[in-house]
Amino acid sequence: MSNNNKKVWLITGSSTGFGRSLAEAVLAHGDSLVATARKPEQLNELINKYPESAKAVRLDVTNQLEVKAAVDDTLEAFGRIDVLVNNAGYGLIGALEEVSDEQIRRNFETNLFGAINTIRAVLPIMRQQKSGHILNMSAIAGFSNELGFSIYGGAKFALEGVSEAVYGEVAPLGIKVTIVEPGPFRTDFIGRSLDRAETSIDDYQKTVGKFLQFLDKIEGSQPGDPDKAAQALIQVVNSKNPPLRLVLGKYAYNKFRKKIKSLTAELDVWEQIAANTDFETAKANS
Ligand SMILES: NC(=O)c1ccc[n+]([C@@H]2O[C@H](COP(=O)([O-])OP(=O)(O)OC[C@H]3O[C@@H](n4cnc5c(N)ncnc54)[C@H](OP(=O)(O)O)[C@@H]3O)[C@@H](O)[C@H]2O)c1
Repeated sequence: MSNNNKKVWLITGSSTGFGRSLAEAVLAHGDSLVATARKPEQLNELINKYPESAKAVRLDVTNQLEVKAAVDDTLEAFGRIDVLVNNAGYGLIGALEEVSDEQIRRNFETNLFGAINTIRAVLPIMRQQKSGHILNMSAIAGFSNELGFSIYGGAKFALEGVSEAVYGEVAPLGIKVTIVEPGPFRTDFIGRSLDRAETSIDDYQKTVGKFLQFLDKIEGSQPGDPDKAAQALIQVVNSKNPPLRLVLGKYAYNKFRKKIKSLTAELDVWEQIAANTDFETAKANS
């Protein structure tokens, strides 16, 4: 962290939703920010309000050259990177058979590989600084998935797996990692950003169709407030011991608890089978 306690943030996907709310909150908090977007002109108003502490940079997270340029631009503007927020991402709804191969790969490119690209670009700088905090925007679907989110949730599960290991790899180097798991929040996620399956198979109406109906029903009245989420993220970044996982919203919190309960119950039932697969010598030593 810089000497005067003001942090330098780099946020992906700052045009709308969480990214936009967080960008505004970070600047209002007095920190410096490189806000990135695929159309950086969408950030003009924000940048004009904070000409000293804010800079807008074009970034599609699937483009490695743009990732490198955004990191270089942040260093050039503010000399360091204290917080990277991998926020850019979008949903893909449909049964596994209904979504196209192209939709699947595009979703993983953004939600998983986009985040990996930026983490890898920023780590050498944070290692040199011996400090930094990486926030990876997952979803509650990245811990307890929904029917119809096999690919979206799958990409977020993968991001969580990557984050768990990186958390341990970089902790001794002074770098922190936090996975953020929101439930439904009032952003453009269900509206313009949600990618929908290109084909529809009747057999999935009662499962995936039901979840899609739920999403369409809550659009515009999701319980989560992105401005409050932004305050929570700032609080976490300023805390001494930030969590590996930060769950946001009651919906996500309840889902998380339910999954832990069912995992524990299942583990208890199958404990003996698990133990019996070890060599007898290993069993004796454990
Ligand atoms: N809202 C929810 O209920 C919810 C719940 C759990 C997790 N999340 C996660 O929260 C994150 C932010 O989403 P949101 O809810 O704030 O929705 P949003 O308002 O639709 O914002 C999504 C942002 O991601 C950007 N983006 C998408 N693909 C990109 C790419 N290839 N390169 C750079 N930016 C890209 C969008 O840019 P453009 O403006 O150019 O499209 C936009 O800025 C996502 O990772 C999402 O999975 C959201």
